[in-house]
Parts: sequence; structure tokens; C-alpha cells
Amino acid sequence: MSHQTVIILDFGGQYNQLIARRVREQGVYCEVRPYTTPLEELKALKPVGIIFTGGPGSVYDPAAPQADPGLFKLGVPILGICYGCQLLAHNLGGRVAQAQDGAAREYGKTGTSFDTGCKLFRGLPAESVTWMSHGDYMEKVPEGFHLAARSAACPNVAIADEARGFYGVQFHPEVNHTAHGAAMLRNFLYEICGASGGWTMENYKETALRRLREKIGGGKVLLALSGGVDSSVAAALLAEAVGPQLTCVFVDHGLMRLDEGDEVEAAFSQWDVRFLRVNAEERFLAKLAGVTEPEAKRKAIGEEFIRVFEAEARKIGKVDFLAQGTIYPDVIESGAGDAAVIKSHHNVGGLPGCVDFKEIIEPLRMLFKDEVRQLGRELGLPEYLVSRQPFPGPGLAIRCIGGVTKEKLDLLRQADFIFRDEIAQAGLSGTMDQYFAVLTNMRSVGVMGDGRTYDYALALRSVTTSDFMTADWTRIPYGVLDRVSVRIVNEVPHINRVLYDITSKPPATIEYE
Ligand code: XMP
Repeated sequence: MSHQTVIILDFGGQYNQLIARRVREQGVYCEVRPYTTPLEELKALKPVGIIFTGGPGSVYDPAAPQADPGLFKLGVPILGICYGCQLLAHNLGGRVAQAQDGAAREYGKTGTSFDTGCKLFRGLPAESVTWMSHGDYMEKVPEGFHLAARSAACPNVAIADEARGFYGVQFHPEVNHTAHGAAMLRNFLYEICGASGGWTMENYKETALRRLREKIGGGKVLLALSGGVDSSVAAALLAEAVGPQLTCVFVDHGLMRLDEGDEVEAAFSQWDVRFLRVNAEERFLAKLAGVTEPEAKRKAIGEEFIRVFEAEARKIGKVDFLAQGTIYPDVIESGAGDAAVIKSHHNVGGLPGCVDFKEIIEPLRMLFKDEVRQLGRELGLPEYLVSRQPFPGPGLAIRCIGGVTKEKLDLLRQADFIFRDEIAQAGLSGTMDQYFAVLTNMRSVGVMGDGRTYDYALALRSVTTSDFMTADWTRIPYGVLDRVSVRIVNEVPHINRVLYDITSKPPATIEYE
């Protein structure tokens, strides 16, 4: 691609994706690469700058990740963050030591003084707060470097060798708690690496369309469309690139939110593509009949999805390319250890084996979620589709606790719609990351008019989160909760109680099953 690249060299830190997002937010393209990537491969990316991430190790640990010494000879500016800073010092003749008795060890917000003559800190206040998280510190600064920042506990918070363009900071500029972190990254990218910017989705769209056309030629492309943001944007991009050669198979499993299937279908009417909507509600409900255990439900839905898709694919015959909406966080995270399986997430990732195709194409593979949304807007997808909150593959089946029936799904759809509608009317949509209704399997006694009711309790769930791995429950104003509750019990039959979930994740998960 014609844009400039910054390499984020991953030494195992917690914030690596965040660094990458911060760099892209500044209009500069970057890629996260493991520290083990061969030097030749990194050189081939022709980086204008390299950022060493933090990491859990200590540079003296024999098993600690090390940097290839060849990186320092490329003539490319390097910014080392936290462990990355210590690596820089260690490799270039400085000395890193373990902080004794807590001296020079810092965690959390720390008042820091900067040398604003240093290019990294130019134009910024001489004093501000940074976010630290380090046990080791630089005892001796390498030759050619000068000290560029200090804190009360640590004299060596930042080092700089302006001639070679090497900078190291003990704190995390990518974290919002570092008051001027974004401006420091900007200085590194624009003043030190000489980046010219220009990484925008408008530019990306043109490049991606050209590349897709070159790759696909006259070939046939098949895409499984779930209606979620990623597969919808992938479909829109392909539709724009090679419209008539694309077939989108949209398996409507009947577990969508109110009107969602129609909305997805309508959005694609603007392109000349073959759009197949398979109405498979009955098939899915038949498979779910009598299934109450969460994992069994997920499995049943995943298997049926593949079967339905397979049947459609067989009708289409051989295709050249199978397209998928994989996005960059999936790419970075894949291979990230073997954590315990809490829930078996059902995605279309299980498809390739069942379709006859030559190659997989993943046109969003290098984009973060916010970039995917922006690209969707550039392509003219409606806002309700691109700003859609995440929705699980198994759909409402895992928000309908226990047995799933059409009747229960319909109640849930109505209640969920009311909740979303009231949130939108209160102008709160943008302030929460995921919010939905759950039909519990608890029934309780109520009174309506003069009569007794014995009906379902509906739970409302709303979370605020940046990564969906941990989440806090949203403090929705009582007045809004009150309106939602009143409307649901009045408008939706068989619900006589509304509960608000005040559990964070962990210990709960976001979804109920
Ligand atoms: P949990 O419930 O694990 O959810 O805290 C974390 C995030 O993942 C979504 N989720 C899924 N997404 N297929 C998906 O594509 C799934 O099977 C699935 N299960 C949960 C959930 O909505 C939340 O955003």
C-alpha cells in the first residue's frame, strides 16, 4: 500500500492493541508484530518508525523477550515504552536495575517533569501526570542519551538520543491517564519519524477496492453475512468492488432482534449483488426444541448454521473465494494462549471446511472496529447498521434463559425494542457499549388490574466496557429505567416484573448464557 507504516513490536505488554489504535487515530498506519518476527520481514515493511511495547519481563531474565540488535542499525526512529524503554537502554550500553525496597518502582498516576526541549515533549507543559507501571528502572543511561523526564521517585523516566531518533519512556503514553500521551505519540510520529499522515478510511477504501478487484479478477465470491457490523462492512466493500460476482448468504435464524433481518436486507438493495436471505427460523427452532443447557444451545445453533449455509453453498456451486469479516483484534489475539473456555463463541469461523473454494479473503483483516465502522460509513451503509452494538452469533437464543420458543422470543424482541427505544430517546445510546433485555426463566406473582398474574421476570443488562473482556454495569438514570419498566409491563404480555442487572464482569459475563 502507498501509506507509511509504523511497526509496533510486541514484547507481551497489556496495552499493545491500544498503542496501535492510538497511532492510527493520529492518521498513521501501523501493524503489531511479535518481537520474534525476523528482521528481514520487518525491513520489508519499510517502517518509518518502530515502537517497542511494554512487557511483563525483566531484561535480565534469561527467558525475557529480546530485541534483534539489527533493529538499532536500520536508521529508523525507535520509541521504547516501559519494558521497551528498558530494552533500549540495556541494548545500547545502559544499565537496568530492579527497584529495591520500592524506591523508583512506580504504579499508577505519577507527577512527572519534562525537558520540553526534547522533541518528544516539545510544545507540552513542563509538568504533567503520567501513568506508570514498572518494577525495574534505568540505573545508568546509555551513551549518547540524555535524561528527558523525571519523577519524584525516579530520575530516569525518559531518555532520548535525538541524533539517532531513539526515545524511551518508563510510563505509558497510550493510556488516557497519561495527560499528554496522545500529543507525545504525535510528536514521535510527525516530528521524529516524519510521518505525513493520510491514513483515513476514505483513502483506505480506494486502495482496498483496487486491490480486491486485482485479486478477484472475474472470480466468484461467497460471503456469509450475519448482519453484524463486520460481515456487513465486508459485504459492502466487496459489493462495491465486484458487485455482480458476489453472493451474500444471509442465514436468518429467527433469533435476531426486532426487524433486524429486514434492515440488513434493505441496506444491500443499493448494490447489484446476489443477496440470498434464507429464512430458517423453523429449522433453528426445531433444533432448539427442548434444549435448555447454554452450551448445548450454542452447539445446536452453530451446527445448524453450518448445515443451512452448506446447503445454500451447494446450490451456488464452486466459488473462487470465500470472504470473511475477520478484523484486526481477532488477528492479533489469535494464538494468544489457551485460556479456559467460558463460552463457545459461535461465529462463521467454522465455515471453510464445508464450502468448495480456492482461497479465503479477509478484506478487514488490518482494521480496528472503529475503522471498520468508519469504512462502512464511507461505503454508504446506514448509520443504524454501522453503529450497531455487538450481537452474539447465537442471537436471542442465549438471552432467553432455558427453553427457547417462538412465543418467548417474540416477547423478548418487543421488550428489547422498548429498552433500546427509551435509551435512544434519552440520548444515551452512545454512552453505553452494549445493552439488551433478557427473558429469564423465573416466573413470579404480580397483580394487574384486580387480577393475579404469574408471569416472567425480564432482566435489563447494560455494560460499559472498552474490550468486552471486563465490563462494568452502566449507571442508567432511574427516570429512564422507570420509563422502560412501565412501558414493558404495559406493552408486553406475560412480563410482570422488570429487573436491572448490577453485576460487573467478572464475576458475571455480559450475556447470560
Ligand atoms: P460474554 O457473555 O462472554 O460476552 O461476557 C462478551 C462479548 O461477546 C459477545 N458474545 C458473542 N459474540 N458469538 C459472538 O460473535 C458468540 O457466540 C458470543 N457470545 C457472546 C457478547 O455479546 C459480548 O459482546
